Amino acid sequence: MAQFIQLTEQRQQTIVDELLAGLTAARASTSPKYLYDALGSKLFEAICELPEYYPTRTEAGIFQKHGPEIAQAVGTGSTLIDLGAGNCAKAAQLFPSLQPAQYAAIDISVEFLRDAVGRLQQQFPAIDMLGVGMDFSTSLALPDNVRDENRLFFYPGSSIGNFTPDEALVFLQQVKAACTHDGVSDGGLLIGVDLLKEKSLLDAAYDDALGVTASFNLNLLLHLNHLLGADFDVRAWRHRGFFNAALSRIEMHLEAASDQTVHWSNGERHFARGERIHTENSYKYTRQGFVELLARAGFENVTVWSDPQLWFMVCHAHAG
Ligand code: AVI
Repeated sequence: MAQFIQLTEQRQQTIVDELLAGLTAARASTSPKYLYDALGSKLFEAICELPEYYPTRTEAGIFQKHGPEIAQAVGTGSTLIDLGAGNCAKAAQLFPSLQPAQYAAIDISVEFLRDAVGRLQQQFPAIDMLGVGMDFSTSLALPDNVRDENRLFFYPGSSIGNFTPDEALVFLQQVKAACTHDGVSDGGLLIGVDLLKEKSLLDAAYDDALGVTASFNLNLLLHLNHLLGADFDVRAWRHRGFFNAALSRIEMHLEAASDQTVHWSNGERHFARGERIHTENSYKYTRQGFVELLARAGFENVTVWSDPQLWFMVCHAHAG
């Protein structure tokens, strides 16, 4: 039977304080994690199906084409730790070739994991499975029942791009530290990373013709209304998603379409027409830049697989 643990739950007051600090700053911003309420998560799944959003299918193609080589580099019998597991589908595809000894699915809420991990446990009874609810972006302190030995952290989808490069370095250092036990580092990291490419392709991927990404971004306002008791009017805001070449990142913003005052439980803010709330960054790396980042975090022996167009890469790096 799979085990389930909810480790940390962010206090409601902490969430409100964090959001209000961002919304009342001179340049308003919110953490991208607030894009993912129940509807936001469904809209993100729809984004992954869009013709313009190449990362999901390109990464899947790399795993399909290079599966045997990836399995050979990683080896069998690992403790597979799936960061941001959601429906666990990407990791589950690796089970037959990687044959992990244990599978730990991690997501912000253990409730997201119950169905998928429960189903997988029935399908793969030989793998010890657990679902862990925790905010791994702030701490990677895993529960005691996650095995120490031969940990393989799996972080697909280029979610690393949603950290700043400095945050990404700290995060990768934490992954490396979590591969170290009794003074020995073993295991490693299997990660998907989106690569720098032509601006027109990047712009389209984050501002698609159907408007799904726009809905994903605008849905944040409904989530804020729920979390803060606010009165954001979705119709009074516009989605902006574009590549900022100077910073090598996609930026998503919500832009006020008219002058307006937004109220919440114990405060308000005036937004002038054109003023923006910065809702997400998605950094795009060069192959060399990311391999250097892995090395700075203490990883060794990096192997890289890519698609023929060099749009995306999957990296395996050893912790020791
Ligand atoms: C989850 N993350 C890797 C996505 C990305 O591409 O940065 C989130 C996303 N935002 C807009 N479209 C997709």
